[in-house]
Amino acid sequence: MSRCKMIALSSAGILASVVTSPAAGEVRYDPASRVFRLTGGDTEYDIAIDEQGYLRPAYWGKALDAATPITLPLLPAPPVIGAMDPPSSVTAQEYAGQGGGIVTEPGIKVAFADGNRDLVLKYRSHRIAGETLTIELADISRPFTVTLRYTVDPATGIVGRSATARNDGKAPVRIDQIAAATLTLPYRPGYRLSYLAGRQLAEFGFAQQDVGPALAVLESRRGGTSNHMSPWFAIDQKGVSDEEHGPVWFGTLGWSGSWRISVGTDLIGRVRIAGGYNPYDFSWQLRPGETLETPIFYVGYSDDGMGGASRLQHRFQIAGILPGNGRPKVRPVLYNSWEATEFAIDEAGQIALAEKAARIGVERFVMDDGWFGKRDSDRAGLGDWTPSRTKFPNGLGPLIDRVHKLGMEFGLWVEPEMVNPDSDLYRAHPDWVINFTGRPRTESRNQLTLNLARADVRDHVLKVLDELLTTNDIQYLKWDYNRSFSEPGWPEQPVADQQRLYVDYTRNLYHILAELKKRHPRVEIESCSSGGGRVDLGILRYTNQVWTSDNTDAFDRLTIQDGFTHAFTPAIMMAWTTDVPNWATGRTVDLSYRFLSAMQGGLGVGNNLNKWGAADFDVATRMIADYKTIRETVQTGALYRLARPGDGGPTVDTLYVADDKRQAILFHMLQNYQARDDVPAIRLRGLDPDRRYTVRLAGGGKLPDGIPASALGSRWMSQGVTIPLRGDFKGAALIFE
Ligand code: GLA
Repeated sequence: MSRCKMIALSSAGILASVVTSPAAGEVRYDPASRVFRLTGGDTEYDIAIDEQGYLRPAYWGKALDAATPITLPLLPAPPVIGAMDPPSSVTAQEYAGQGGGIVTEPGIKVAFADGNRDLVLKYRSHRIAGETLTIELADISRPFTVTLRYTVDPATGIVGRSATARNDGKAPVRIDQIAAATLTLPYRPGYRLSYLAGRQLAEFGFAQQDVGPALAVLESRRGGTSNHMSPWFAIDQKGVSDEEHGPVWFGTLGWSGSWRISVGTDLIGRVRIAGGYNPYDFSWQLRPGETLETPIFYVGYSDDGMGGASRLQHRFQIAGILPGNGRPKVRPVLYNSWEATEFAIDEAGQIALAEKAARIGVERFVMDDGWFGKRDSDRAGLGDWTPSRTKFPNGLGPLIDRVHKLGMEFGLWVEPEMVNPDSDLYRAHPDWVINFTGRPRTESRNQLTLNLARADVRDHVLKVLDELLTTNDIQYLKWDYNRSFSEPGWPEQPVADQQRLYVDYTRNLYHILAELKKRHPRVEIESCSSGGGRVDLGILRYTNQVWTSDNTDAFDRLTIQDGFTHAFTPAIMMAWTTDVPNWATGRTVDLSYRFLSAMQGGLGVGNNLNKWGAADFDVATRMIADYKTIRETVQTGALYRLARPGDGGPTVDTLYVADDKRQAILFHMLQNYQARDDVPAIRLRGLDPDRRYTVRLAGGGKLPDGIPASALGSRWMSQGVTIPLRGDFKGAALIFE
C-alpha cells in the first residue's frame, strides 16, 4: 500500500500527493523538483517535468536513497550538438508526440482533419491514487490529450504503463501510431538486447545482439501474438551482467494482437525503447470526444542478472496477472491423445485411454481435435461445434460421465475463432470471415479466420461456447488458434474504420474469454496457437496455462523451456511426455528422460497408452506421484538456470526452490557423455544455509554413490552435488527437503 498521508495542491496548482516516508510500492511527487518517483521491490522509476513543461525520463534502475531529492537535469544534453541533430530528439521525452521536429520513435503519431500532423505534448496535470499515477499531457495548441498511466507493483517494482489518447476537438483525428510506452536508458557501454524468436515447433528461442543505432524491431504483423517472436525484451550490459548479477531491464506486452517493440540507440547513444500496438497497417479514426487506450507494457528492472529478472517476472505474473487472485491453482496432471490418435477418436477409444490414464494418476482427461461436425481431418468441420454423430452417437455425456467416475476432470479442444470453408457455418455465413471483397481468401491449414471484430460474430462465438459449457460438464477448454490473419479486410465498416480490425478483434476475444470466465467460473482455459503462438500478458489474464510448443521432443523442449522461462512463469508452461521416435525430430529417448523434461513445468501425458507395457506404466506412475509432491515448487518457486542449453557443457541443470526454502528440485539433464568429460559438481542456490536438507531421487531408486542422504543448505551450495550420469539423453532429478 502507498503511504500517501494527504492530498495537497502544489504551488503549480497541481493535485499532488505529499508523502511522509518512503516505502516499498509507492508513487511520490516532489513539487519542488517536479519529480515523480515510483518505487517497488528494489526498483525505482522516475519521471520529471522540465522547466518548459515537457515530461522527461529521469531514472530507471535500482532503488535510490529515498531521502535525497532528485534534481534536474538527470539526463543532461551533451555539451556540443550539431545543427543537424534536433535538440528535441537529443533530449528524450517520456512520451513524445510526432512533432516539434523529433526524428526519434514517437509515442504517438496523428493526422488532424486539416492536414496538420504536428503534435507536441506537454504536461498538464497528474493524479496519484494508491500505486497508480496518471499524467495528462496536452498538445500545445490543439484540444488533443494523451494520458499516461503507471501502476507500480509493490513486490517487484514492475511498472504497468499504458497511454490513452483523447480527441476533444470538433473533427476526427487519425491515429497512425500509438505506443503503450516509450522508455530511455542513459548512455553506457555494452548494452545488449535479449529476445525470444523462433517458429512453430521451435518457439521461444533465446537470442541476443548488441544494442546500437540500427533499430531492432521485435514484432508480430499477423493479428496474433505469434510463434515467431514473443512480446518480450531484456537489456543487460555485456561484461557487467550475467545470469545472477548485474543490471537487466525488461518488458513484456499485455496484448494478443499485432504488436511491436523497438530498441535502438539514439544520436548520442542513449537506448530508446518503444512498445505497443504495431504501427504496421494501423490506423484509427478518433472521433470528437472519443478515446483510444493502448495495452499495458509491463516493464521492470533487476540488479541480479537475467535469473533475477526472470524470477521477478514469474512472481509478478503469478501474483498480478494470472486468474486466481494472486493464488493460481497448481496445474493438474493432464492426459491428451492428440499425438497418439489425432482425428481417429470415438467414445470407446477415448474411454479406453481414460481408464489407463486414471491408473497412472492423471487428474484431467482432455479430448483434442476431431470430436465435432465432419472433423475427420483438418479439411472440414471447424465452426460446427456439435459432437460428431458417428463418433459420439449419444453426445459427449457418456464419455464425460466415465471420465468423472474415474476421478478426473474433463477437458475439450476448441478452435472458436476459425472456420473451414467446408462447414455448415461457412456455408451459412461466408461474409463472417476476415476478407477483402472480391479478393482471394488465403487458406491456412484449410481454414479462414472469423472476423471476431464484428459484433454478430463475437456474439455467435460466445453463445456457442456458453452452450457447450452449459450443456456439458466440462472443466477445461484447450482454446486453439491455428493461423495468422491474411487479407485483413473488414468490408462492412466505413473505410476509415476498417483497420480497427486488429484492435477490435483482440478486444472482442478478451470479451468472450472474460464473459465465459464469469458465467463458468470453474472452467479453466489453455491458450494454444499451433503451440506457443499466443503467450503474452494480455491473454494470461484470462487463461490458466499455455501449450508451449507442438514440438514435444524432450530434448528440444529443454531449449524451448529455457527461452520461455526468461519471460514467462513455469506455472503456465505445459509439457507432455509423448511417444518415440518423436514425430517432430525423430529422436528416441527413454521414458524417464521424457518425464523429467516435462516435469519442469505443468506435466501432461500425450502417449498412446494402448501401446505401453508394464514397465512404462510403472515409470509413469512413480514419476507422476513424485511430480505431485514437487509441482508447487516447480510451478511457483524461484527458478535458477545453473547450466543452460547452448552454454557449451554436456548438461542442462535447472533448479527450483520453494518460496519458504523448504524444498528444492534440481533437474540434471545430460545430452551426451564423453569419456574425457570430468563431471563437475553442481552448486545449488537459494537454499537456507542453516537448514538441513535430505535428498531423494524423483521416481525413486537409490541415490548415486557420493551423494550424502542429508546435509546443510550451506554444503549443497558451496560444495555442490555430483551426479555421475553416463550415456546419451539421461536425466535425474534430486529433491531436497
Ligand atoms: C494444433 C495444436 C495441437 C493440436 C492440433 C489439433 O496444432 O497445437 O496441440 O491440438 O492443433 O488439430
